[in-house]
Amino acid sequence: MPEARVAIDLDVPGPTISRHLYGHFAEHLGRCIYGGFYVGEDSPIPNEGGIRLDVVEALRALDIPNLRWPGGCFADEYHWKDGIGPKADRPSMVNTHWGNVEENNHFGTHEFMALCELLGAAPYVNGNVGSGTVREMSEWVEYLTRDGDSPMVRQRKANGRDEPWKVPFWGIGNEAWGCGGNLRAEAYADLARQYATFLKDHGDNKLYRIAAGASDDDLNWTEALLKSISCLGCGRDPKNIYQAISFHYYTVAGTWENKGSATEFSLEDYYRTLSKAQDIERVIRAHSALMDAYDPERKIGLVLDEWGTWWDVEPGTNPGFLYQQNAMRDALVASLHFDVFHRHAERLVMANIAQTVNVLQAMLLTDDDGGLVRTPTYHVFEMNKGHQDATSVPTHVIEGTTYDLDGKAMDLVSASASVKDGRALVSLSNLDPDAALSVVLDLRGASSRESSGRLLTASKPQAYNTVADPDAVAPVPLEVEPEPRGLRVTLPPHSFATVSLVL
Ligand code: AHR
Repeated sequence: MPEARVAIDLDVPGPTISRHLYGHFAEHLGRCIYGGFYVGEDSPIPNEGGIRLDVVEALRALDIPNLRWPGGCFADEYHWKDGIGPKADRPSMVNTHWGNVEENNHFGTHEFMALCELLGAAPYVNGNVGSGTVREMSEWVEYLTRDGDSPMVRQRKANGRDEPWKVPFWGIGNEAWGCGGNLRAEAYADLARQYATFLKDHGDNKLYRIAAGASDDDLNWTEALLKSISCLGCGRDPKNIYQAISFHYYTVAGTWENKGSATEFSLEDYYRTLSKAQDIERVIRAHSALMDAYDPERKIGLVLDEWGTWWDVEPGTNPGFLYQQNAMRDALVASLHFDVFHRHAERLVMANIAQTVNVLQAMLLTDDDGGLVRTPTYHVFEMNKGHQDATSVPTHVIEGTTYDLDGKAMDLVSASASVKDGRALVSLSNLDPDAALSVVLDLRGASSRESSGRLLTASKPQAYNTVADPDAVAPVPLEVEPEPRGLRVTLPPHSFATVSLVL
């Protein structure tokens, strides 16, 4: 059996892994909100105020730190005032981006805030720049967060909510280079400054304002934003206008026209997908290096508020609903991203998987008869949740296995680790689709007094869960053996594992 050695510097504290790197995204898209999170109060499916309770229960196990809403592209055509007040009086609209379906606005501001409260997640509201106004966005902040008496507060109270909510995160539009307005970078950079100016902190609610950023490695976009709030070497504090810049990175292994199937794929597709997922590290490095030049004190955060796999929709489903299955391969895409996030936690402060339920790389797939499936990706989020707010520690794959992809050696072993409260959590992925791997964990700077392991794997990388077979891919215990230098585990092919240590 091939061997790998992973050295972990347990006594060399790195950056804190913000829990917000484990954030989520819920858009008015397909069956994410309607049929996913929200079924309405009259549904036979158990719900509270229309919110599905089985979905809430499953997601509570993930300790979701924040939830981004209402889009995505939808955010830039959403008018929040249409989504408050008695449901019967709420006007409808057409969701032009996603399926051209009618949106009845029954899930609006109050329902979203109730969902966040049920999940224990911090709200991340994304405002409308593309087709909205500065006033509309400014009033939304007032409606949500202002105390005392004001025009928006009176409306909120009339709609049944006396106390202001806390809203820590605010997005200034979405993908302004595309569905958010097809703007030039410089034009959006000015708009972001203008909108941010009127996104006020009311009382003790402090907004963390996030400008809509680049696609993938479009550094020109990021630089235009940086230039508009800072200047090379001038010492101006860049974080007075907004506090973070986002970017989006999807794992699309094929082309946008032919993205491939979530469950029917070749080994070649498998390697290409995981290689594309690994490339997130190059993209984060590039954005970070640019930000370091303009913001050497790292006051501005980098936020990856959309990431995940994007496959062809499942046969027979609405192409505008982005409904896809989720296999063991998707779980490995997630684990690879998290290893990278942990390494770059100093600049990368937040990330949001797209999307939580029934859309793209979802945690949960639901049906209208009350069926609910936890996907392989769900299990990675659950197994990794101990990294939230822990201290990242240097983790080196000293000996590993590789695969020759287009003449380049692709790493087949990935790892990261963190420490918190006298415990360590190690995450390990064996990407080899055929060979098991014996891994020595070379523990440096501390020893383990007690250890336990968990393993996620499946009969094949294409395996996925269904209502009929919900645990085809589900975590099982993993044996952890002592070794002179630390510990040893055996990872089956295409597997993800976590090892918990008491130090
Ligand atoms: O997540 C689906 C869509 O992908 C979002 O609405 C948009 O921001 C991105 O292009």
